[in-house]
Amino acid sequence: SSQPASLLVIFGATGDLAQRMLLPSVYGLHRDGQLPPYFRLLGTARSELDSAGFRDMVAATIEQRVPEADRDEASLRALLERIEYQPAALGDEDSFAQLTERVRSMRDGDVVFHLSTAPRFYGQICADLARHGLADPGTRVLLEKPIGHDLATAIEINDGVAQSFDEDRIYRVDHYLGKEGVQNLIALRFGNALFEPLWNARHIEQVQITVAETVGVEGRGDYYDDSGAMRDMLQNHLLQLLCLTAMEPPSQFDPSAVRNEKKKVLRSLRPIGRADVAGHSVAGQYTAGAVDGKAVPGYVDELGRPSRTETFVALRAHIDNWRWSGVPFYLRTGKRMPRRCTEIYLQFRAVPHSIFAQAGANVDPNALVIRLQPEEHIELSLMSKTPGLDRNGLRLSQVSLDLDLHEEFAHHRRRLAYERLYLDAIEGNGTLFVRRDEVECAWAWVDEIFDGWRHAGTVPKHYPAGTWGPSAAVSLTERHGHSWRE
Ligand code: BG6
Repeated sequence: SSQPASLLVIFGATGDLAQRMLLPSVYGLHRDGQLPPYFRLLGTARSELDSAGFRDMVAATIEQRVPEADRDEASLRALLERIEYQPAALGDEDSFAQLTERVRSMRDGDVVFHLSTAPRFYGQICADLARHGLADPGTRVLLEKPIGHDLATAIEINDGVAQSFDEDRIYRVDHYLGKEGVQNLIALRFGNALFEPLWNARHIEQVQITVAETVGVEGRGDYYDDSGAMRDMLQNHLLQLLCLTAMEPPSQFDPSAVRNEKKKVLRSLRPIGRADVAGHSVAGQYTAGAVDGKAVPGYVDELGRPSRTETFVALRAHIDNWRWSGVPFYLRTGKRMPRRCTEIYLQFRAVPHSIFAQAGANVDPNALVIRLQPEEHIELSLMSKTPGLDRNGLRLSQVSLDLDLHEEFAHHRRRLAYERLYLDAIEGNGTLFVRRDEVECAWAWVDEIFDGWRHAGTVPKHYPAGTWGPSAAVSLTERHGHSWRE
């Protein structure tokens, strides 16, 4: 229905996200010839820069952020010619009128407005756009997380934006969906006949989703302390990974089919409420320790004040439907873990009967590991005969079938998640963006856990930086005969 947009307007264009991700992504797309021929970029923020000043900033950012092998002078100069800047202060009519004029003068078709500002401004920015005639059917709006702090505030933000834009023109970013490895999970599941028949409670014993980071709060203490691991990571990134792992095959790879299936998963999540938080959730906060052999301060020292915010969370979740009945989904995420690692681990059920028992051989269950970070990797563990002659039958050992995507596709440049997301937003394809009902379902589920924590007076348990979280996280799985994969 929509045409490729030819104008991208970034609100918050001088901010941290723009520097780290957005501008380098636009450059990557431009360099690879992925942008429409008439593409233009308009940056806006409070800073009183002119277009020349902003271009200098963009050039410096690209030089700093894009590896030398991936950039060249000519393409950078060509991109800069397509970039302008217009300062705008929220609530200042004059400056918004000037911004509007600038958008009109640069526009030649559809427009993407990317709001990379504090979410509490989304409603007002959208209302301003609408009031100035900039919310017509040829426009789309891209929203960054966090959409809300809980269900009530998420509804407020979503309602605010909905007054000016229809849902099919609202693109909520979860940058995990832009990651190559996440899309590869979809390819693995639905591009192969091999896995789908086994992808259910009859054959899968347990699933683990881990997003471990080595970083601390990186100077974002004020934002982070108000959020914590549950709101910052679990409510969005981990639940999206869970949805893609657990959803039914969508009939097509398109926005409504995929998002309908994700939403069904969210609605099937068994509530973890007051009666269940003790056995199903663990909150942690890091204290001083060492990561990668380097001493690092504890969370409250980094923050500079006392805090009860969790920097680690682990859950034992269940999806109450036919496919997943009884299968635990263990989710965990934390800052200051021993290493950076994002992976999905599916452990298959044990063989029904071992014929190797007399030899004393263990038959370990098969497992599939889909690693997204630090590099993409798929691994299937199988039992195999240990080579050699044995007296009492066969000796077995576990071996891994490695699908090293990193090596297989080594000639492909590693792309930033926002390259995919921008391309899709420009083309008007919302499949890899999050729909309103998904966000709200996810909040409703997470809110209940918070309610349980409040009711139980849960305080995060300490864990030294550089460890896998508080020991309670270990009991969360071991009580049920499972253990975290390390
Ligand atoms: C962001 C969180 O959404 O994701 C950060 O706000 C976190 O706290 C980041 O560090 C992790 O993203 P990635 O792509 O590095 O795994």
